[in-house]
Amino acid sequence: MNLDQLARAHDFTGQTIAVTGGAGVLGGEICCALATLGANIALLDRNVSGAPALLERMGAHASRAAVIETDVLDPASLSRALDTILQRFGAVDALINGAGGNHPKATTGAQASFFDLPPDALRWVFDLNLIGTMLPSQVFGRAMAGAGTGTILNISSMNAYRPLTRIAAYSAAKAGVSNFTQWLAVHMAQEYSPRIRVNAIAPGFFLTDQNRFLLTDQATGELTARGRAIIGHTPMARFGQPDDLLGAVVWLLSPASAFVTGIIVPIDGGFSAFSGV
Ligand SMILES: NC(=O)c1ccc[n+]([C@@H]2O[C@H](COP(=O)([O-])OP(=O)(O)OC[C@H]3O[C@@H](n4cnc5c(N)ncnc54)[C@H](OP(=O)(O)O)[C@@H]3O)[C@@H](O)[C@H]2O)c1
Repeated sequence: MNLDQLARAHDFTGQTIAVTGGAGVLGGEICCALATLGANIALLDRNVSGAPALLERMGAHASRAAVIETDVLDPASLSRALDTILQRFGAVDALINGAGGNHPKATTGAQASFFDLPPDALRWVFDLNLIGTMLPSQVFGRAMAGAGTGTILNISSMNAYRPLTRIAAYSAAKAGVSNFTQWLAVHMAQEYSPRIRVNAIAPGFFLTDQNRFLLTDQATGELTARGRAIIGHTPMARFGQPDDLLGAVVWLLSPASAFVTGIIVPIDGGFSAFSGV
């Protein structure tokens, strides 16, 4: 890439980017940023109630956004979403697999030992995080294979490197997401096109609805012992803010990372680098 192209690498004008979990905390932040950088945004979520506020945040850029109610666990729903995107924007250039999360019932604690975690809750976590990344990658990846170009960006987690206590299924599922990211990167490059890239980000600890019950006391809002342990193990001594993700997301979607595929980028304030000593 020449320097003119590098200077324009953050301009996504004319690119169409689909974001699953796009109405969530992290997905919503990513949608707003990419819309501002010129992209057409397809915000896919099973729960689109948060979408109007995001469209308002996008301001004039919202005219290039489509909100499509989509279940990442239902191939027919994903295919309908892809058709809607192709009708409206003509192509899809990138997919961000942002839908994911833990389930309180798949979490050990005073109320539930590991031995009692219900199979349904364990399956729910694997389905949402792992299958909910694989199915959109099948549906959108097929379109990218046809076009010979495209970018997929998955969302893994710190617990993919080393499991966190209490959340066995979420840790194992995110380890699966990292593993699948590498697998799909190789598969797409070898079987379809070296211009289809697959990468992931691994956010550290961001205070959002899915982990608030673990990290802060519901009554007082104070950090729990777990929340304090995380801050103590994070050299930068804070939780992440959603906009901390944006630089890595934009880089991994842009031509500036044209020779990068199959990597998982930690965005964690140094958590994964710190041995604790
Ligand atoms: N927050 C963190 O600290 C952190 C750290 C590392 C990784 N992550 C990962 O980052 C991603 C985004 O997390 P977040 O904190 O932004 O969570 P979030 O606010 O809960 O966003 C996730 C979104 O996905 C939606 N969703 C759930 N099931 C779906 C389905 N079957 N089909 C389509 N959409 C579905 C959720 O809808 P509902 O509201 O209906 O559930 C929600 O809008 C997840 O993969 C998460 O595991 C988060």
